[in-house]
Amino acid sequence: MRRAVCPGSFDPVTHGHLDVIGRAAGLFDEVVVAVGVNPSKRSRLFSADERLDMLRQACSTWDNVRVSAFTGLLTDFCRAEGIAAIVKGLRAVSDFDYELQMAQMNASLTDVETVFMPTSPEWSFLASSLVKEIAQFGGDVSGLVPDFVHEALVRRFEESDTAE
Ligand code: PNS
Repeated sequence: MRRAVCPGSFDPVTHGHLDVIGRAAGLFDEVVVAVGVNPSKRSRLFSADERLDMLRQACSTWDNVRVSAFTGLLTDFCRAEGIAAIVKGLRAVSDFDYELQMAQMNASLTDVETVFMPTSPEWSFLASSLVKEIAQFGGDVSGLVPDFVHEALVRRFEESDTAE
C-alpha cells in the first residue's frame, strides 16, 4: 500500500488544500491528512479539534483519505504510520525555498520522499492566513472555503466582536 501524508496547520482548510488532497488521493492508495498540533502555538483561530472536524467533513467524499493529528516531528509520524511520501502543494516560486529546505531536512532525518504538487492556478493566491484576515473584516470568502468553514469563520468573528 502506497501511503502519503498531506500535512499542515489547516487553520482553516481551504479549497486550495482540498485541491491538493484530492489530487493526491488519485495518486496514492491512501492519503493521511495530518494536522500539526504544536501545543506552544496559541495563535490559532480554530482549535485542533475544530480543524480536525472541518477536515473530516471536507474530505468525506474520498474513500481513501483519513484525517489525523500529530505532534512533534512529521518524520516520526511518517515512520509510525508507514507513510512513504509527504505531499506539499506549491502555489508559487515563493513557496519553493522554504518547502525545499523542509523536504531536504526531512529526507536527512528519514527515507521519506517529498512530492511537490503545483496548486491549480485558480487557487494559487489562496492562503488560510489571508482568508482569516478577510473574514475578520467582513470580506466575502465564501468562494474560497467549503460552506461550513465559511459559516464557522463568520461565527468565530461574530463571537470575538461581541466579546470586545
Ligand atoms: O500549514 P503549515 O503551517 O505550512 O504546516 C506546517 C507543517 C505542520 C507541515 C510543518 O510545520 C511541520 O511539518 N511541522 C512538524 C514539525 C517538524 O517536523 N519540523 C521539522 C520540519 S523540517
